[in-house]
Amino acid sequence: DHTHADTLRTPIVAVLGHVDHGKTSLLDTIRGSAVSEGEAGAITQHIGATDIPLDTISGMAGELIDPSDFDLPGLLFIDTPGHHSFSTLRARGGALADIAVLVVDVNDGFQPQTEEAIDILRRTGTPFVVAANKVDTTPGWNPQDGEPIQKSMDAQSERAKSMLDENLYEIIGQLSDAGFSADLYWRVQDFQKNIGVVPLSALTGEGVPDLLTVLMGLSQRFMKEEMAIDVTGPGEGTVLEVKDERGFGATVDTVVYDGVIRNGDTVVVGGQNEPIVTEIRALLRPRPLAEIRTEKEFEKVGEIGAAAGVKIAAPDLDEAMAGAPVRVVRDRTVDQVVEEVKAELAEIEVDTSENGVVVKADTLGSLEAMANALREAEVPILRAEVGDIAPRDIAVAETANQDEHKAILGFNVDLLKNAESDLENADVKLFKNEVIYQLVEDYERYVEEKQR
Ligand code: GTP
Ligand code: MG
Repeated sequence: DHTHADTLRTPIVAVLGHVDHGKTSLLDTIRGSAVSEGEAGAITQHIGATDIPLDTISGMAGELIDPSDFDLPGLLFIDTPGHHSFSTLRARGGALADIAVLVVDVNDGFQPQTEEAIDILRRTGTPFVVAANKVDTTPGWNPQDGEPIQKSMDAQSERAKSMLDENLYEIIGQLSDAGFSADLYWRVQDFQKNIGVVPLSALTGEGVPDLLTVLMGLSQRFMKEEMAIDVTGPGEGTVLEVKDERGFGATVDTVVYDGVIRNGDTVVVGGQNEPIVTEIRALLRPRPLAEIRTEKEFEKVGEIGAAAGVKIAAPDLDEAMAGAPVRVVRDRTVDQVVEEVKAELAEIEVDTSENGVVVKADTLGSLEAMANALREAEVPILRAEVGDIAPRDIAVAETANQDEHKAILGFNVDLLKNAESDLENADVKLFKNEVIYQLVEDYERYVEEKQR
């Protein structure tokens, strides 16, 4: 449906994996900054977006990349917290990410959040590569900072090499158990059929040139057509996060995946109750190579085209939801676009019944993933909402007819201070977990024990 395709947009690359497996460190190495060191407990609390231009990529990839082979402008990386479901990254009709990097600690192998990420990659059909991270922790490793992995391998003892091989084949086996045929990336002929595994170290940078090369190759070869968009069309994006910003009030960190957004544009944003219609007061862009999540200095820009991370300041954004659509109205009517946003939200709407549990999640995407998991487990839902657990939720849970349904399942949300005493006094059980399937299992176990 995109006609005047004269420019290719930046492919969106999601970086996901288990907690502490090195997602943020990998991006730090790529952007040459140290976002990870500035974080509380080095845990990523929020999703961020970083734009890496082609010349930075080709600079890092060195001899592996000839920039003249590529006409994509670069890559837009989205960092996800390990405890956060990747399903937040949704876009009209599917996944926000065009490709993904699944980071796996080469010593730890697959962990619960790795499994969860793989599950979502499979469901959304997102092509991905595996970054087998922390190769430098192999006993006896001889680090080769920033070098391609073959060079680095050549510098290792037989013993170190065979230990690493053993770990790598373990991961390849785990991928195969998950239903993916995989191999070390240099043995992969067809990246659409086989998953490439790239051994690397975010700490020393060895193998990172290889990863960038594989990612550029994947995007260029398989996604060039999808990257050809009408760059001047009305902008479309997804809210990553709603944040209060001094001097601006509530703002939305947004990934723009289509068209262009201009300052002064009227936009429709998915809200907790109904779509929000508002006018953009400022488009705030993190500096190049900077991370929207930690960036303090924003540049005010007149317009921004896909794909990019941008903070939108506009009135009435308090009720905007993470994971919700953002649409520029431009030459259509407001009503038309409101209907579009409503239709998109309706796709995500969770089926509720008269009986069931209360579900709270941090974003629309994770709420949807929770609803799917509960449907598979045949657990009915009475009410499902985005947001922290409030007194109202406890009151609703208490109205459940069956005891086993007097429960609240919270994914990645907090119990609000003013709800603490309500919970103590109510006959309602609260479950919280940062892995969706574990949350469902915790609840199922509770029900089983109750029925005994
Ligand atoms: P979450 O955001 O909490 O999910 O974690 P993450 O996956 O972003 O991991 P992060 O980059 O914060 O790294 C976790 C820890 O592993 C930090 O202490 C890093 O210094 C360390 N680390 C990451 N990559 C490497 C690596 O290649 N080698 C070594 N030795 N340590 C690494
Ligand atoms: Mg992180």
